[in-house]
Amino acid sequence: MTEARSTVDMEKLVSLCRRRGFIFPSSEIYGGLSSCWDYGPLGVELKRNIKQAWWRAVVQQRDDMVGLDASILMHPQVWEASGHVEGFSDPLAECKSCHKRWRSDELEGDKCPDCGGELTEPRLFNLMFKTFIGPVEDEASVVYLRPETAQGMFVNFENVLNTTRKRLPFGIAQIGKAFRNEVTTGNFIFRCREFEQMEIEFFVKPGMDKQWFDYWLEERLNWYVSLGISKEHLKLREHTKEELAHYARECYDINYLYPMGWAELEGIANRGDFDLVQHAKSSGKSLNYYDEETKEHIVPYIIEPSAGVERTALAVLCDAYDEDVADGEARVLLHLHPSIAPIKVAVLPLSRKETLTPLAKEVYTELRQQWMTSYDEAQSIGRRYRRQDEIGTPFCVTVDFESLEDKQVTIRERDSLRQIRVPIESLKATLQAKLDGEDLFVLPPGGKIWKGG
Ligand code: GAP
Repeated sequence: MTEARSTVDMEKLVSLCRRRGFIFPSSEIYGGLSSCWDYGPLGVELKRNIKQAWWRAVVQQRDDMVGLDASILMHPQVWEASGHVEGFSDPLAECKSCHKRWRSDELEGDKCPDCGGELTEPRLFNLMFKTFIGPVEDEASVVYLRPETAQGMFVNFENVLNTTRKRLPFGIAQIGKAFRNEVTTGNFIFRCREFEQMEIEFFVKPGMDKQWFDYWLEERLNWYVSLGISKEHLKLREHTKEELAHYARECYDINYLYPMGWAELEGIANRGDFDLVQHAKSSGKSLNYYDEETKEHIVPYIIEPSAGVERTALAVLCDAYDEDVADGEARVLLHLHPSIAPIKVAVLPLSRKETLTPLAKEVYTELRQQWMTSYDEAQSIGRRYRRQDEIGTPFCVTVDFESLEDKQVTIRERDSLRQIRVPIESLKATLQAKLDGEDLFVLPPGGKIWKGG
């Protein structure tokens, strides 16, 4: 089998994201802050749509899952019990000449890759950001910015169980910020120091864990395909015994073919009873579950599908990026799935003539009640189509002079360039059908094919 290859050039993608307002370096006017990024007007919509699609799939459409939003700052004992204070670290060697630090497990020789200087023996460097709670900055007031959202769900297990009366198997889902003082950074938004996770902790009866682990592997893989990511660009990779995290019995990564090669998009772990046992021991509270069938108290096992919002955003952008020729002109386009496209529809009056503006604005006002809609009347219609293609807008609605007479407008499809003409009164319903995936050439009453692709 030939290995799939990424066809996207990371530099081109970074440039598009910067130019069109998806992603900016953090604090750019001060020279940026390493591995921190700001999401501009289109980036924030893209991330919001990804999070919404995840929430819809794992919470809204299921009756065995509930949501949670735990605080970022947690009791410091949480991180003792979880093993993060002790073990969430990378081995680092420092150059004795330039004082740059390197992850020793990623070094190829025994000299500094930058200046060739001698390196110190590796020392463990904890990846958690420390800060202080309250006015006194001493050891007793140290707290950490959470490096994962997961712990919030373990420590709230009992609260959720008691307030929702859920029975096993059930899960808790959470989306939120996580912070890691990563040593190796780079590859754009792939590895950041501040990022968002979308995590599920799925509690099952011991003995049922293998079955649920396999279920979630398939479910999560299919979710990425539902976002429009090509199957050939996704694969599962099993962790070897040596690389398994201290809490995991079994773990697979869903890898994506990023421009720099195959890399982790999501991790799915069977955490066994590690977390509930640890927190029960450390807090002195019993975190178990009364099984009505066997009349026994048990400690549930946990299956954890843990995804990153930024890595998903990068994967969908890489998969969507394309260059082709439309109407004899080169164009850059993002084939974003309509569910995650930042702007769903653009309303474009054919010209800036005053006579067209009122009707075009009327259509725009109507559509924006329902979707993120943009209005653009500057420059030629061809240029405006290109601008929308480049940000992945699936549909453009053109209002022309005939529209004033026949009360119809043209819908143009980004990918196929096909166009149909539909009555304004059925525009919303038609767009909804198209956004839901119906073929563009399925016409509403009174509609007609305007231009084939
Ligand atoms: N609770 C388990 C956990 O946090 P992880 O493999 O360390 O597992 C899960 O992280 C996911 O979070 C990763 O698959 C990735 O999508 C995302 N992630 C982790 N570190 C990241 C970073 N520094 N920047 C961006 N995303 C990151």
